[in-house]
Amino acid sequence: MKIDGTHYRSIWLGDDQKTVKIIEQRLLPHELKVVDLKSREDAAIAIKDMWVRGAPLIGATAAYGMALAMADDPSDANLEKSWEILHETRPTAINLRWALNRAKAHLGAMAPEERAAAAYKLAAEICDEDVEINRSIGENGLKLIEEIAAKKAPGETINILTHCNAGWLATVDWGTATSPIYHAVEKGLKVHVWVDETRPRNQGAQLTSWEMASHGVPHTLIVDNAGGHLMQHGQVDMVIVGTDRTTAQGDVCNKIGTYLKALAAKDNNVPFYVALPSPTIDWTVNDGVKEIPIEERDGREVTHVYGKLENGERDWVQISPDATPGGNPAFDVTPSRLITGLITERGVCDASSEGLKKLFPEQE
Ligand code: MRU
Repeated sequence: MKIDGTHYRSIWLGDDQKTVKIIEQRLLPHELKVVDLKSREDAAIAIKDMWVRGAPLIGATAAYGMALAMADDPSDANLEKSWEILHETRPTAINLRWALNRAKAHLGAMAPEERAAAAYKLAAEICDEDVEINRSIGENGLKLIEEIAAKKAPGETINILTHCNAGWLATVDWGTATSPIYHAVEKGLKVHVWVDETRPRNQGAQLTSWEMASHGVPHTLIVDNAGGHLMQHGQVDMVIVGTDRTTAQGDVCNKIGTYLKALAAKDNNVPFYVALPSPTIDWTVNDGVKEIPIEERDGREVTHVYGKLENGERDWVQISPDATPGGNPAFDVTPSRLITGLITERGVCDASSEGLKKLFPEQE
C-alpha cells in the first residue's frame, strides 16, 4: 500500500538480495521505521516480540527466516533446527507451520548447496502468492459490500466493523479484511469503518487506524465494547474480520474479542464475514474451541498500556494495582454457526466443511 507516495509491502528483500526488510510495527503509528533481519534469530525475535504480526505475515517472515538460516548453514541438521526454532515463536497462527512445512519439504528434497538460493526464491513466492490471494479476497468481498449498498439509498454510507488488524500490515499487502474495503473505496462506494481498538495490544488503534487514515478511508476508532451497542442501533451493516486459523469445519480462531462481536452480530442480524486466505485453513482440526492452541501472553500487556509519552519516549504505563495479576489469552474461537460466510481467494462459502470443500475439492 502507498504511504506518502511510496509503495510498501510489509516485508521485502534488501538491495543485497540477502537482508530481509520489515516495518517495526511496535512503533506505529508514531514512527514508520524499517529494520533489517540478518539472521534466523532476528526473524524469530521479530515474530515472537511482535515487530511483525498477523497470520500471513508471520508465515512470510518464517519463510524468510528459513532463507536466512540456509544462507548461514544449509545442512540437514540446521534445516531441522531452524524449523523448530521458528515454529516455537508463536503457537496460534497456522500460517507459521504452513510456511515452515512448505520450506522444509521443498529444501529437504535438494542438495544442501542449493538450499539458500531456493529458500529465498520460495519466500519471495510465498509473499507474491499472499499479495495475489488478498487481492482476490478483495474482489470477492467487494461483491458482498455491493449487495449491501444495493439495498441502501444511493450514496448512503455502508458501515463496516472490523476487529484487530487484518490489514496490509498483517499480510504482505492489501490485508485480508481490509482488501474488500479498499476495493469498495476504489469503486467509489461510500464506506465507513468502525475500528475496534483491540485491547490489549491495540492493533486496531495503532495499526488499522493508521492504515485507514493513510489511505483516506473514513473510519472511527471505538472501544472494544462499543460494537454491540452500535449494532443494536443499526449503525453496523456488516462485520469483516481476519483469522489466524480456520478449521476444516469452518470454526474461526482470531484475536481475542472476535467471538463476542460474532455473538452480538448474530443477535442483531448483522452479517458476520471472515476474510480467509487458504494458507490459514488448518485441515487437520475440526473443533476449533477444543483443538486450537490459544497463545497466553504476558499479563503485563493487560495491567499496562503501551504508548508514546509526552516526552516522546515510548513505554508501558501501569493502569491497575501492583497486586493485581493480568490474564491474557490472545485469541478466541468463533464457532462456524455464528459466521455468515468465509471470503476466500476462490470465492465466498458457508462456514462449514461442505462449504470449504466445495471451494477446495483437492482437500477431499
Ligand atoms: O497477535 P496478532 O497481532 O498477530 O493477531 C493478529 C490477528 O488476530 C489478525 O486478525 C489475524 O492474524 C488476521 S491477519 C490477516
